[in-house]
Amino acid sequence: MRASPGKVLMCPPTSYSIRYEINPWMSVKNQADRPLAVRQWKNLKGALERRKVRVELIRPSPRQPDMVFTANAGFINGRVFIPSNFRYPQRQGERELFINYFKRKKYRVVALEPSLRFEGEGDMLSFRDVLIGGWHYRSDIQSHEAVSGFLNRRVVSLELANPHFYHLDTCFAPLDDRHALYFPGAFDPRGEKLIREFVPSPIPVTSPEAFAMCCNAFTVGRVVFMHRATARLQRILSQARFEVEEVSTSEFIKAGGSVKCMVLKIPGTREG
Ligand code: ARG
Repeated sequence: MRASPGKVLMCPPTSYSIRYEINPWMSVKNQADRPLAVRQWKNLKGALERRKVRVELIRPSPRQPDMVFTANAGFINGRVFIPSNFRYPQRQGERELFINYFKRKKYRVVALEPSLRFEGEGDMLSFRDVLIGGWHYRSDIQSHEAVSGFLNRRVVSLELANPHFYHLDTCFAPLDDRHALYFPGAFDPRGEKLIREFVPSPIPVTSPEAFAMCCNAFTVGRVVFMHRATARLQRILSQARFEVEEVSTSEFIKAGGSVKCMVLKIPGTREG
């Protein structure tokens, strides 16, 4: 059966700016161009909608400039929402806003222990019947075990080993049941070995591709949305029967995020 394009949660970038520095991409001296950011965000939303993705919106808070990165809201499995426990105080105020949103939508909110750091879909992605989790810079490895217990799903934990690739979704992107993009330079040898073990056809990206956020991609059917693909990557993906759709996210890369960070997948009841 062909998966439906599905539903995602996005947050308009009305309050988006580089107000602090919590990852190596961010510099308050390298401000985002807000009008351009708004255009890029609208463009991404429109591109997804043209592929029949349903986009839900949460109201931005003027106090939370990074709220546009909804992938970090938490993790959804069926009707269960596990909210993030953000590592940095600058983002901790987002937690309540996302919890309220999902409570209003009648999700069961299951909170992790407050001492466990966990940054949602930024560090946890569904692949086939397992969850792939990243840990080190933002999420604690113990959070994976807790999520696994709550959801009764196996979690494969990968240690992130490069501060530029501080969230799993910056260096790993499942594309379908066989393929996933990943940046070898973001993992230690053990992590890379696990990826090769669980992903039948892993597609490594080069360092320049990784720094162009090629792994922060979001796939709808056979269409892979990403900031920018090299000719090399286009070729490899088209051989694997994927089509790349580029959507510029230059203003968001200044905060360390691109396409995937700006969408939180809302699975349908039949999906995981
Ligand atoms: N500035 C944000 C942060 O450092 C970017 C988050 C990107 N999100 C992601 N899912 N990788 O938290």
